[in-house]
Amino acid sequence: MSEPIRAIVITVSDRCAAGDSEDVSGKVLAGLLEGTGAEIYEKLTVTDDLEHLVEILTIHSKMADLIITTGGTGLSPRDNTPEATQRVIEREAPGLAEAMRYKTLEKTPFAMLSRGVCGVRGKCLIINLPGSPKGVEECFEVIKPVLQHAIDQIRGNTGH
Ligand code: MTE
Repeated sequence: MSEPIRAIVITVSDRCAAGDSEDVSGKVLAGLLEGTGAEIYEKLTVTDDLEHLVEILTIHSKMADLIITTGGTGLSPRDNTPEATQRVIEREAPGLAEAMRYKTLEKTPFAMLSRGVCGVRGKCLIINLPGSPKGVEECFEVIKPVLQHAIDQIRGNTGH
């Protein structure tokens, strides 16, 4: 039996961080993760500020097996999540992001607009999801079947 995944959920949103919007997507994401048996070690909301996000991802990647972000992956001027993630990861896992875009394109053409990035820093897998609750649900469904195996590989527990 694998150790439960220790996960951190990060909502990236100026509006949620300012208290102007409720963080629905972060809650949905935490619920989905808990449904897989993962332990939510921390759940936080941060602004779209690039440098702050780099710092947050760097610090939190030392504390968890998995960080999943929601929001800030689009084309708006303040959408910085993919840039922050690129700066932090040491190895990209492009298949995860490709699969999410490809599979969910069947549901909405807007899936093309997410620039989400996935990769590994140290022993932590970082995954960017879009900001809407619907986007979170659809994309999580795609990666859910491989999450435990991905984490086991990063932990060095798969024997290859
Ligand atoms: N992907 C899926 N599967 N479902 C969605 O509803 N929304 C899209 C896209 N990806 C969506 C999706 C939209 S409308 C945008 S603008 C981009 O994600 C970026 O969203 P973000 O900036 O909130 O991360």
